[in-house]
Amino acid sequence: MKFTVLTLFPEHVQAGLGASVIGKALERGILELSCINIRDFAGNKHNQVDDYPYGGGAGMVMQPGPILRAYESIQPRPKRVVYLTPQGKTFDQEMAFSLAREESLVFLCGHYEGVDERIIDRIVTDEVSIGDYILTGGEMAAMVMIDAIGRLVDGVLSNSSSYENESFHQGLLEYPQYTRPAAFEGQEVPEVLLSGHHGNIDRWRREQALVRTLRKRPDLLEKAELTEKDREFIRN
Ligand code: ADE
Repeated sequence: MKFTVLTLFPEHVQAGLGASVIGKALERGILELSCINIRDFAGNKHNQVDDYPYGGGAGMVMQPGPILRAYESIQPRPKRVVYLTPQGKTFDQEMAFSLAREESLVFLCGHYEGVDERIIDRIVTDEVSIGDYILTGGEMAAMVMIDAIGRLVDGVLSNSSSYENESFHQGLLEYPQYTRPAAFEGQEVPEVLLSGHHGNIDRWRREQALVRTLRKRPDLLEKAELTEKDREFIRN
C-alpha cells in the first residue's frame, strides 16, 4: 500500500513513521511512503505558500496553487485524498479497516488557519479528524492514521501479533494480558490461564472482554458483534 503525504514538514512525517512496525514494513517494501513538500511547488522566489485571509481575521491561509501543483505531481492520480481537519468525520477502527482496502491514499496536511476552501472542493474526497481537539497542523493526524491503517495491511504484522484478537476487533475491548512471573510481589496471574485448558481460557477471555467493555466503554456494546451466549452473560 502506498501513502503519499502533502505537507510543509516532510522530514517530520518521514521521521515519525520510520520506527517500529511501520518503519520495518516500509523497509521491507510492504508499505510505501512518499512525502511531498508543498513548498517545492510555491512557484515564487520567496517560496511563499500562504497569504492573509480575504475578509480579514487572524492567521494565514494556505494558497490553493502550490497544493494543486503538488497534488498533480502524483502519478498515477489517486482515487482518495484525505484532508486532516478537526471539521472531518472522526477517525475510528472501522474507518481504518475501510481505508486499508485502498491501494493508495493521499493525505493533505494543513497548517496555519487551514487551506483555501477551493482546494478542498477540488481534490479532497474525505475530510477526517482524529478527535475533538485542535492540533497545530495535520501531520500528527496523518501519522496516526497511517500507523492505524498500515498495520492492517497484509504482511505488516507478524501472525503472532495479528489484530484478530485485539481491542475493537469485534467491537469489544481486549481481555487482560499477563506474562511471567506467575506471581509478582503477591499479585497472582488468574489460575485459568495456567490451566492449559484452551476452552476455559477462551471463555474466560471472552467474559473479561465483555466485562471490561461494559465497565469502561458501554457505548461500544451497541455496535459489538455479540453471540446469544454473550448477551446472556451480560444480562447476569
Ligand atoms: N488538524 C488540526 N487538528 C486536527 C484534528 N483534531 N484532526 C485532524 N486534523 C487536524
